[in-house]
Amino acid sequence: MKVKILLLPGDGIGPEVIDQARIVLDTIAEKFNHEFSFSEQLIGGCAIDAVGDPLPANTLTACRDADAILLGAVGGPKWDDPLAPVRPEQGLLRLRKELGLYANLRPVCPFPALGHISCLKTDRIENVDIMIVRELTGGLYFGQPSLREEVEGQLRAIDTLEYSEAEIRRILRTAFRIAGERQGLVTSVDKANVLETSRLWRQLAQETAEEFPDVILEHQLVDSAAVRLIQAAETFDVLVTENMFGDILSDEASVLVGSLGMMPSASIGDGRPGVYEPVHGSAPDIAEKYIANPIGAILSAAMLLRYSLNLEAEAQKVEQAVEIAIVDGARTADLKKGPAMSTKEMGDAIRAHV
Ligand code: IPM
Ligand code: MG
Repeated sequence: MKVKILLLPGDGIGPEVIDQARIVLDTIAEKFNHEFSFSEQLIGGCAIDAVGDPLPANTLTACRDADAILLGAVGGPKWDDPLAPVRPEQGLLRLRKELGLYANLRPVCPFPALGHISCLKTDRIENVDIMIVRELTGGLYFGQPSLREEVEGQLRAIDTLEYSEAEIRRILRTAFRIAGERQGLVTSVDKANVLETSRLWRQLAQETAEEFPDVILEHQLVDSAAVRLIQAAETFDVLVTENMFGDILSDEASVLVGSLGMMPSASIGDGRPGVYEPVHGSAPDIAEKYIANPIGAILSAAMLLRYSLNLEAEAQKVEQAVEIAIVDGARTADLKKGPAMSTKEMGDAIRAHV
C-alpha cells in the first residue's frame, strides 16, 4: 500500500513524540511491505513565529493532499497572552473545521501493568474500556457570536452554544456504529436539565437509537457522568457528547489510565484524511528534555493505521508492541519515580516488538 502521511509536529514536546511515532510507522511499513512517504509542515506557535499564521495556507493544502495526518501538540507560554491577535490553538481548531473532522475518538484503556500509577484504587480501573466520542466541530468552540465588548463602561464577553440537527445526528450515528462493534451500549452525555441544545441532543439520540436496534442507549447528565467516570468507569462502553463536555471528560478519564502521556486520539470526518494526535498538550515544562512519553503519539499512529488506512492487523501490531513494552517494564518519567527512560528509549523498546 502506497500512502502519504503528513506530519504536523507543532510545539513543545510535539516534535519529540512525533519523531518516535514516525519511526514506528516506518518499521510497520518495512514489516508489512507498505510504502509510507512522510512530509512535514508547520502548525501552531512555530507557524505563528515563522509566518504569522497558526495554520498557514501551505499546511492546509498539504493536509488536503495527504492520506492521513499525524499531529504533535500546539501552544506554549510564549504565545499565551490572552490579548494576542493570534493563538496557536486557533490553528488546530481551524484545521478540524476545514477538514470536517467532526468525530473525535478518545479510547480510555488502562494498562493492567500500570494499575498502581493511577491515583485511583486499582479495583476502580479494572475492566475499564471506554471509547469517548466527542463532537469536534460545533458547540461553544465555534458558535457565533463569540466576542468581547464594552457596554456602559463594563467589559463583557459572549460565547455561543449552537448545534444543528445534522451536526448532532452524524456524531450520534458515529457513536452507535462504534458501539455496535463493541459492547453495544451508548451513554449520551448532556445537560438536558438546563440547556436547549442538550434537549435537542437527547431527542435526536432517542431517534437515532431506533436506527440501531442492537445498541442500548442511556442518557446521563454531564455532572453525574463526571462522577461515574471515577466511581464506576467500567460501566461505560461508548460515551458520546458535545465538544466542550467531551474536552473536559476526556481529560478527566486520563486519570483512569494514569498518565495523559498514554492517551491517543483520532479526529475523523466523512472524507479523508483524519488527524491523529496524542491527547496531551505541548508540555512546555519538559520540552527539549527528551523525556516525554511517546506512547500517546505512537498509539495515535495505530489509530491512523486503523481508521484512515484500514490496516487493522498493523494497528493491532503497534498496540500489542506498546502493551508488551509496558509489561516488560519500559517506563518514561511520567510512569515511575526515579531514573526512567528517555523518549527515544521508550520508542526503541516499543519498536523492538513491532
Ligand atoms: C484538546 C485540546 C484542545 C481542545 C485545545 C488545545 C484547543 O484541549 O484537543 O482536547 O480544547 O480541543
Ligand atoms: Mg482538551
